[in-house]
Amino acid sequence: MTINDRGTWGSRFGFVLAAAGSAVGLGNIWGFPTKVGQNGGGAFVLVYLACVIFICLPILIAELAIGRHTKSDPVKAYARLRPGTRWWMAGALGVAAGFGVLSFYSVIAGWALAYIWFSATGSVSSGALESATFFTEFTARAPINLMLTFVMLAATAGVLLGGIRSGIERVSKFLMPVLALLLVGLAIRAVTLPGAAEGVAYYLKPDFSKVMNFGTLNAALGQAFFSLSLGLGTMLVYGSYLTRREGIAKAAVMVVVVDTCLALLAGFMIFPSGFSIPGFDPSSQGPGLIFVVLPRLFASLPGGQFFGAAFFILLTLAALTSAISLLEVPVAHFIDSHGWGRSRAVLVVMMATFALAIPSVLASGANDFFTSLPVIGLDFLTVMITVWNDFALPLGGLFTAVFVGYVWRIDNALEELLAEQAWFPGRQFWGLLIRYACPAAIFLIIFGTLQSLIA
Ligand code: PHE
Repeated sequence: MTINDRGTWGSRFGFVLAAAGSAVGLGNIWGFPTKVGQNGGGAFVLVYLACVIFICLPILIAELAIGRHTKSDPVKAYARLRPGTRWWMAGALGVAAGFGVLSFYSVIAGWALAYIWFSATGSVSSGALESATFFTEFTARAPINLMLTFVMLAATAGVLLGGIRSGIERVSKFLMPVLALLLVGLAIRAVTLPGAAEGVAYYLKPDFSKVMNFGTLNAALGQAFFSLSLGLGTMLVYGSYLTRREGIAKAAVMVVVVDTCLALLAGFMIFPSGFSIPGFDPSSQGPGLIFVVLPRLFASLPGGQFFGAAFFILLTLAALTSAISLLEVPVAHFIDSHGWGRSRAVLVVMMATFALAIPSVLASGANDFFTSLPVIGLDFLTVMITVWNDFALPLGGLFTAVFVGYVWRIDNALEELLAEQAWFPGRQFWGLLIRYACPAAIFLIIFGTLQSLIA
């Protein structure tokens, strides 16, 4: 399966695996439980599912259609369909978001990398330090965290440069099912822990009073975009490697099902085991949630050191295949739109992303400048996550929907989507979602949130 030099995927299955490789990553296993924990549990899960089905799936289909039709990077894709207009800026937002998301993504991926070692050696579960204290002390050590972030970025760049990408994707093709099995096993262990019932109830029993505000709706929307690699052009770029023989709708449904099932499983692993810790409060853990809870879960297992290390190896690999697809967007842009060589594009984008990642690394400690600002009151890492995931990605999706619905137009998009008699039930409904429901819902949620921030 080679996709360099504008190649195409070997088969639809190859495409689904690569797109699922991009979608499945920290978003499912770290991001989803974190957001559920910050937003009150079961009701958030339902809102998330609604966003995935009614907003993200239609937009995923639209992004893939633009990509396959134009066969270029996001900026050029919009410019090609509407030359001489400002629509290229929608693609440019995606390129910027590629930098932004990767800048915090690599920090979290660095944590996952370190936890391979901490789990294998048992240092995190030795009981000498509470797992929460362990995490806080670990993230406060700037030099090692800068190094870990750099290593993850360099590995990502190395894969893109070394042409070993198809190799990595082939390996992860076999390892991702292993990750899924491990998640099932860990979830089963988690729900049998003492106190787990409370966690299951928290996760499954919706309390709608907790989601009835724009901030929570926005978090669910942003998380859905983030988890599906949507709204910044990743799927557009991936779609540009699809041949017309491949049915887009079917591939999109498969990616959504796989990605969502893994996120839901991660929740079954985290909340029951979290609630088995006395005094556990899911809302106060922030981005450290899984790093605090998982060591306790592994400690409750025979061979926990082995399972812990295996889990974090697989998580790091899943993060790597996603990071590759993130880096690919700005890289494809500089190659396609500015004529740069591949190595130059990869190195420049990687170094710029590292520079942007530095404040996220330094600012997860106690003396964060941003935490002291009255308006923001969040650490820099959380600011980055909010700005890029919750605003930039849904905004990118909004532009995609408006573009396909009103500028490129539904019938042209359908012509692309139905090529070679492709399977696409509910195509009329899709058109309605793209033209009306998606733009209206995203607009309402984003501007409602902004307004409630100002008020
Ligand atoms: N979807 C990836 C994850 O869940 C992250 C990602 C976002 C990748 C956007 C590409 C584009 O980890």
